[in-house]
Amino acid sequence: MTNTTAPGVITCKAAVLRKSGEPLQLEEIQVDPPKSSEIRIKMLCASMCHTDILCCNGLPVPLFPRIPGHEGVGMIESVGDNVTHLKPGDIVMPLYLGECGDCLNCNSGKTNLCHKYPLGFSGLLADGTSRMSVGGVKIYHHFSCSTWSEYVVIEANYAVKVDPRVSLPHASFLCCGFTTGFGSTWREANIEKGSTVAIIGLGAVGLGAVKGAEMQGASKIIGIDINDFKHEKAKAFGITDFINPKNSDKSVSELIKEATGGLGVDFCFECTGVPDLLNEAIEGSKVGLGTVIFIGAGLQKSGELNYIPLLCGRTVIGSIYGGVRPQTDLPTIVEKCVNKEIDLDQLSTHEVSLAEINKGFEYMKEPNCVKVVINF
Ligand SMILES: NC(=O)c1ccc[n+]([C@@H]2O[C@H](COP(=O)([O-])OP(=O)(O)OC[C@H]3O[C@@H](n4cnc5c(N)ncnc54)[C@H](O)[C@@H]3O)[C@@H](O)[C@H]2O)c1
Ligand SMILES: [Zn+2]
Ligand SMILES: [Zn+2]
Repeated sequence: MTNTTAPGVITCKAAVLRKSGEPLQLEEIQVDPPKSSEIRIKMLCASMCHTDILCCNGLPVPLFPRIPGHEGVGMIESVGDNVTHLKPGDIVMPLYLGECGDCLNCNSGKTNLCHKYPLGFSGLLADGTSRMSVGGVKIYHHFSCSTWSEYVVIEANYAVKVDPRVSLPHASFLCCGFTTGFGSTWREANIEKGSTVAIIGLGAVGLGAVKGAEMQGASKIIGIDINDFKHEKAKAFGITDFINPKNSDKSVSELIKEATGGLGVDFCFECTGVPDLLNEAIEGSKVGLGTVIFIGAGLQKSGELNYIPLLCGRTVIGSIYGGVRPQTDLPTIVEKCVNKEIDLDQLSTHEVSLAEINKGFEYMKEPNCVKVVINF
């Protein structure tokens, strides 16, 4: 479809990070029109993920000024000349992974890490430039998106259309945290019915893994968190047991073994990003049979992994977005939300406006916080 009226530059508000660790500033920015294979989205709702805290501290790549945010949902305002499968008015999720369907990895059917539309760390779009600036000075994107802006431009392949029956906050949660945990139980670990599972860290990612393990038919789902508030939360998603390691002198792996007759679990998910817990997750899984899924982020290096427990027949899987392929798999999860098999209401604990974004970071430190929704 050819545009009859070419879209121009839009001036709008966005939360801009000028320096590592500093508060964000609400600034007026300029957002360029989409290039031929891109779309420009008017954001309607966004949310905050733990990885945004890392981004604001310059991880994994310190690029400034930058607009963070990688969860959100919006309405397409304009599309580039070569975009035919999406149109202005469509409600979409701007994601940090695309899916070409045709590269080595897409063809394998085994991974969601597409070679053509990868997880981008350069802060720039595919052609090596940014669509956002202030007074002519470039602002970096966060991954391929930057959802904490009233308008964003992304490569169209990174957008997934959302069923209008899914609420805006729920669609936003599906862009990263919940889907990452949920997907990992199915696309990465493929938990068999009757399995025993431990999930370390019960934030949105961990709670997603709890729900996924329940739906895969796990017989025992041990939720582990240093925050007691997460006990009740995680019950609503399907844990059968809860361990707060702060209430014991024993290590997390010892506590997992204690809860499983000394054997450890079939599947152990690390969802905190705390380096020491990587080894605990390995040792908490069964010798010869255990699978460990590393999801938590936060460090450039993993620290030292204990080699002998790994040699003893455990499998370790590293996961981005739970192995979920945006175009192929995400609609299945969206459908489960529409059917109410998955209820994401429990995740929503706090709300802010875009102007109050720094308050959102304060909320994230509160014990009862799971998800902060950003209203536009
Ligand atoms: N691999 C991916 O694709 C991907 C996607 C999203 C998030 N992440 C990462 O996953 C992790 C979790 O994200 P989230 O948004 O759910 O975070 P969150 O902060 O909401 O939740 C983390 C939970 O871990 C608990 N925790 C912290 N230290 C602990 C400890 N020592 N022992 C037990 N529990 C502990 C916290 O109390 C909290 O409930 C983060 O590291 C995030 O960066 C990775
Ligand atoms: Zn591909
Ligand atoms: Zn995230």
